[in-house]
Amino acid sequence: MAINRTSSHGEWSSRTAFILAATGSAVGLGNIWKFPYITGENGGGAFVLIYILCVLFIGIPIMISEVYLGKRGRLNPIASIKYICERENRSKYWQVIGLFGILTGILILSYYSVIAGWTMAYASRTAFGILNNIDAVGATTMFNDFISDPERLLAWHTMFSIITAIVVSKGVKSGLESAVMRLMPALLVLLLALVIFSAFEGDFINGLKFMLYPDFSVVTWKTVLIAMGQAFFSLSLGMGALMVYGSYLSNDISIPQTCVIVASLDTLVALLAGLAIFPIVISSGLEMSQGPGLIFQTLTVAFGAMPGGQLFGTLFFILLIFAAWTSSISLIEPMIIWLIEKYDLTRMQAAAFSAGLAWLLGIGTIISFNIGSDFTIYGMTIFELLDYITSNILLPMGGIMITIFVGWFIVKENINSELKIKSRFLTFVWYFSTRILAPLAVMFVMLNALGFNINIF
Ligand code: PFF
Repeated sequence: MAINRTSSHGEWSSRTAFILAATGSAVGLGNIWKFPYITGENGGGAFVLIYILCVLFIGIPIMISEVYLGKRGRLNPIASIKYICERENRSKYWQVIGLFGILTGILILSYYSVIAGWTMAYASRTAFGILNNIDAVGATTMFNDFISDPERLLAWHTMFSIITAIVVSKGVKSGLESAVMRLMPALLVLLLALVIFSAFEGDFINGLKFMLYPDFSVVTWKTVLIAMGQAFFSLSLGMGALMVYGSYLSNDISIPQTCVIVASLDTLVALLAGLAIFPIVISSGLEMSQGPGLIFQTLTVAFGAMPGGQLFGTLFFILLIFAAWTSSISLIEPMIIWLIEKYDLTRMQAAAFSAGLAWLLGIGTIISFNIGSDFTIYGMTIFELLDYITSNILLPMGGIMITIFVGWFIVKENINSELKIKSRFLTFVWYFSTRILAPLAVMFVMLNALGFNINIF
């Protein structure tokens, strides 16, 4: 079946524009803030290896499926799936995938924006020279003081929410395309420079060893679940973000190739972030497993010590704000498009409502670092719980539904005419991974991590 519909919201101007926007969504706090600290908490090398396997065998097939659904449906995630179900004579209940995704996006944005606020605060601190010559103890004290002040966190969270709302209210594509095109390469260059600094000034050999040497004795099913959840989070999968971006894709573009490029760039940035951080953690005597504060403490020590660190550090944090911002846009966009299409809201109203909702929920995350830190559910603070549920349960469940739907419930010819995979071997790989490997692997990891102890080996 020829697929010639176009999105009423316009199209990307080129394949590169889509790659950049999707990479802008994928590369964010997940790569530079979260990947290093959860790798630190989960033992290093083995975690990195499992993470890469998850990207390859689970992430890429699901990414292709998700972009396919968006490109074919050309509407918001719920309506796209409804449209496809009508064409394929499938139950309309599959729409739940879209609804599920929209809500997950807002839940993630609620804490994402709080952490992006930290990045803004650190950019201004670095710019004003407050971090010059700071040592590890000073950096740790400063970070702890910072997160224990709810009003300060609220102010930065509010600021980031407003910026996101303003930008998305103006429409995503025009601004996003040109901004990502310039700033993504800049982030990569700065990250490379940090890796070089870390190679000279940090304990590079031991940092590298920590990241690459797989010690499987520290791996449990929970570790595997966290690595898999991180792959979903980092690649922006399972919640309709890439479906929306796929809906703006023009007809002549190859989805599989494009997705492999986006996944590779995303993984490259995460690995570089690890290479920049771990050697400094070791050389400055900081703890690998100190959690969400890891980059704020390590990087400030690094910037404090390097010549030109004030300028370099400010630039780095600004680029990180930018990376967080391009990801936030993709977290909020599914809900915005849905509100516009379904309830006829203006873009401005939809942006204000969605950002307001995420802002309100974000207060839960803010207080979990200070006045509400004693309030725990299953031993987790509100922030930890939100992060755990969204990354390790909601995104993977969304991913399973997407790959099962595409793999089993869409007529093969329709998929083939869109994906245009020529080689028979790759066609086999595609069907094997979407139909069997990805859904089974996700289910298997989730059930084992939940304590069901399913052992097939
Ligand atoms: N991928 C983003 C990051 O790594 O920071 C976070 C994210 C964006 C997750 C969009 C999910 C999403 F749909």
